[in-house]
Amino acid sequence: AQNPTIDRDVVVIGAGPAGLMAAYTLKKAGKSVAVLEARERVGGRTWNGKVAGTDGKEHFIEIGGQWISPDQTRLSDLVEELGLKTFSRYREGISIYVDPEGNRHEYTGDRLPVNDATNKEMDKLIDLMNSVAEEVGATEPWAAERAAELDSISFKDFLAQHTDDQEAIDNVSIYVASGMLTKPAHTFSALQAALMAASAGSFSNLVDEDFILDKRVEGGMQSVSLTLAKHLGDDVFLGSPVRELEWATPDPSTADELNNIAADVRNGVENGVLGPVTAVSDKVTVNAKAAVLAVPPNLYNRIQFVPPLPREQQVAHQHISMGLVIKVHAVYETPFWREEGLSGTGFGGGRLVQEVYDNTNYGENFAGGTSGEEDPYGTLVGFVSDVYAEEMWALPAEERKQRILSAMADYLGPKTMEPIAFYLSDMAAEEWTRGAYATSYDLGGLSRWGHLQNQPTGPIFYACSDIAAEGYQHVDGAVRMGEAAAHAILEAR
Ligand code: FDA
Repeated sequence: AQNPTIDRDVVVIGAGPAGLMAAYTLKKAGKSVAVLEARERVGGRTWNGKVAGTDGKEHFIEIGGQWISPDQTRLSDLVEELGLKTFSRYREGISIYVDPEGNRHEYTGDRLPVNDATNKEMDKLIDLMNSVAEEVGATEPWAAERAAELDSISFKDFLAQHTDDQEAIDNVSIYVASGMLTKPAHTFSALQAALMAASAGSFSNLVDEDFILDKRVEGGMQSVSLTLAKHLGDDVFLGSPVRELEWATPDPSTADELNNIAADVRNGVENGVLGPVTAVSDKVTVNAKAAVLAVPPNLYNRIQFVPPLPREQQVAHQHISMGLVIKVHAVYETPFWREEGLSGTGFGGGRLVQEVYDNTNYGENFAGGTSGEEDPYGTLVGFVSDVYAEEMWALPAEERKQRILSAMADYLGPKTMEPIAFYLSDMAAEEWTRGAYATSYDLGGLSRWGHLQNQPTGPIFYACSDIAAEGYQHVDGAVRMGEAAAHAILEAR
């Protein structure tokens, strides 16, 4: 049987925070919308999950994005607007640093307990990246005077140009490499690293985990998407991957003709003319005046565009890829580290698990919990990035678990080896994400193609955290981009 066809002002593709925010904003402004989502749930890379414990209970975990930093004001405002609450990450007590030789050091405050020489070199690199981030900015890094130059050198080599201290390089590079882009520091440029820092306000902000990993949403970050979706009601269609997007007629016969059509449609949009556009999904076909493509850029090519996208976008999209990271969740009878005066925070540049944090739950979602209460169980979160993630996925499950837990025990001691529940987030295996946390350009890509990423293609507007300035690669950026796409459409009409 043929799919039902419906008419709406705007069709939104993807029900992650970006797409839902776009639809929510458009609907509030009186436009009719349909949101087509491939998965059987909303939230995209934010996802509230449960994992069964050996105690017979189900334990709450956040499989995807969860933390909010103080600069992420659009998201914090939205959380409040939606009637949701936040809580602070537990961070009292002593933190642990494991040095390259595997020695464990206790510390407090935001300085790693490295020797004075390394400390000085780290400061130098952090100052350097602060000034590069300021120079480049988050809005148009590709337009910076030194964009091409900074984009031609890997972040690793850039840092190595400024110091010989390998421990300093390892410790500073993780704030962007394994810590954010989740790619090895030799695979992306100094310009891409500067964008990451500028999007968070400064490189120093990336270094400061109290800043970056500040607050969480009670009931989990997916609640933001679930609440937005509630406002949209029947306008959200789950299990509806978009396979085809028709955006211009007539179908051109040459690439030049296509580029002319794209330019015409783009000019038309600038002059207030939109559409028509038709999105064909597995369950429903939507005719609309504009589309918001709110999927990560690595998935654009899952959709057949009719006619094909202009040459420059087809090329650019091949140079954007997802990072790879495993988010590790380990649940314990109690937060035992707190009883030992530890914060649960641990760092070790270049190690299998380079960072661990206390991730104990608060709010209503934990086993039997109610709002305004903390989970009596203790949860730790750790991250295994890029090449280590590959190494771990190649192991049998039990060996993988033991290796990861033992790397976490290097920070927090032998009790770490005995969780009552254990779970590894595997967004790389998810067809509609294919990695984590987000996408970035390969070496040299940002300066060549960055300027295209936010340009609408005729009636197709792009929205995603991965093309954001402020809040790049974060839920805040997704919300900002969703809202911006909605405003651009409202202005065009
Ligand atoms: P997102 O990927 O969330 O949503 C896109 C949606 O489009 C998905 O629902 C997908 O199914 C759908 N889709 C794709 N193709 C489609 C098609 N053809 N048709 C229909 N639908 C389609 N951020 C943060 O702020 N703090 C944090 O702590 C973290 N931590 C973190 C951990 C992990 C493990 C991950 C994976 C990610 C994070 N993030 C994060 C990043 C954050 O989750 C991410 O930036 C946002 O979810 C991005 O929202 P978007 O809406 O842009 O894309």
